[in-house]
Amino acid sequence: MTTFTRINLIARPEGGPIGPELFEVVQQEVPTVGEGQFLVKQTQLSLDPAMFGWMSSDTESYIPPVALGDVMRSSGIGEVIESNHPDFSVGDRVMGMMGWQELHLSDGTSLNKVTAPLPDEAILSVFSLPGLTATQGLYSIGKPKEGETLVVSGAAGSVGSIVGQLAKADGLTVVGVVGTDEKADWIVNELGFDGAINYKSDDIESKLAELTPNGIDVYFENTGGPIQHHVFNRMNAHGRIAVCGLIADYPKEKPDLAPNWIPVIKKRLTIQGYTMPDHFGDVPALLEKLTPYVLQGKIKHRSHILEGLESAMTGLNLFFTGQNKGKLIVKL
Ligand SMILES: NC(=O)c1ccc[n+]([C@@H]2O[C@H](COP(=O)([O-])OP(=O)(O)OC[C@H]3O[C@@H](n4cnc5c(N)ncnc54)[C@H](OP(=O)(O)O)[C@@H]3O)[C@@H](O)[C@H]2O)c1
Repeated sequence: MTTFTRINLIARPEGGPIGPELFEVVQQEVPTVGEGQFLVKQTQLSLDPAMFGWMSSDTESYIPPVALGDVMRSSGIGEVIESNHPDFSVGDRVMGMMGWQELHLSDGTSLNKVTAPLPDEAILSVFSLPGLTATQGLYSIGKPKEGETLVVSGAAGSVGSIVGQLAKADGLTVVGVVGTDEKADWIVNELGFDGAINYKSDDIESKLAELTPNGIDVYFENTGGPIQHHVFNRMNAHGRIAVCGLIADYPKEKPDLAPNWIPVIKKRLTIQGYTMPDHFGDVPALLEKLTPYVLQGKIKHRSHILEGLESAMTGLNLFFTGQNKGKLIVKL
């Protein structure tokens, strides 16, 4: 192998679907591995809704945008194939930010060794961003208590499905909001949620009232959209809302209007947004919290695998159409 494939971002999205016109696919020379460096052959990379923000020109966000001409940003997993680094050996499995490319030259910064004997897709679907995000938001902001009621939007997605299963395992009544009957069936009959609402076909207000007779104590917000107002209206006093994502608003020039703030006072609600880069220092503690649930078989997942690096360029659209069934991953 003398060259490898890399995909650079060369234009910013302007609304509408993401396509190959925003990227250039280039062949790069395999780099020489210097002292203190090692070369990783990436095997799988994660596609995430956050990429829409990273591709935009927004410099006010929690992380700078990808510069035009740079390799597209992503996290992934791979194997060390050459090493001049004292702490990384050929054959080690590593995970971290590697970008849309087959090979990644590293000095060890921002890559961690993976020692768990699990398939790549299980690592990317549970123990990386989805599981960490679910655990951080649910426990730090949602503060779930046995007997309470939790509603999660994007409930069949990689983050939402883990949130709901953690809450179920902790003894809450859990209702998930999804966009297809297949997803509703999966979260109820496979994952054990107490109920599901199809926001595209159900009468949201009456179905939510039926499924949450005691009101809602915790709302884990992944999507925004029409469900938000209905959930807000049913929040109990001292309820908590973890604002993780608002995918319904990402493609809109103007986001939807949020609920009125007066009930925030009347009901003494806590509403908090968060982003995971603030919590990367907490990863060991988050994994310590999450891992026992996984080992006890309480967290199921499904991965949606796309084949080949170039499939990343259009694969991102599946998030908006809702066609991804579980964690969206590109297999290289
Ligand atoms: N704060 C953080 O640090 C952080 C970290 C990771 C992820 N997130 C956020 O968490 C959310 C979930 O991420 P994920 O990776 O787990 O993605 P995901 O839920 O696996 O995929 C996104 C899902 O969103 C739903 N969706 C798309 N458009 C929608 C709309 N207009 N209204 C309602 N639902 C819509 C679709 O499912 P349906 O078929 O059910 O519509 C789609 O499958 C995203 O908003 C993401 O940005 C935040």
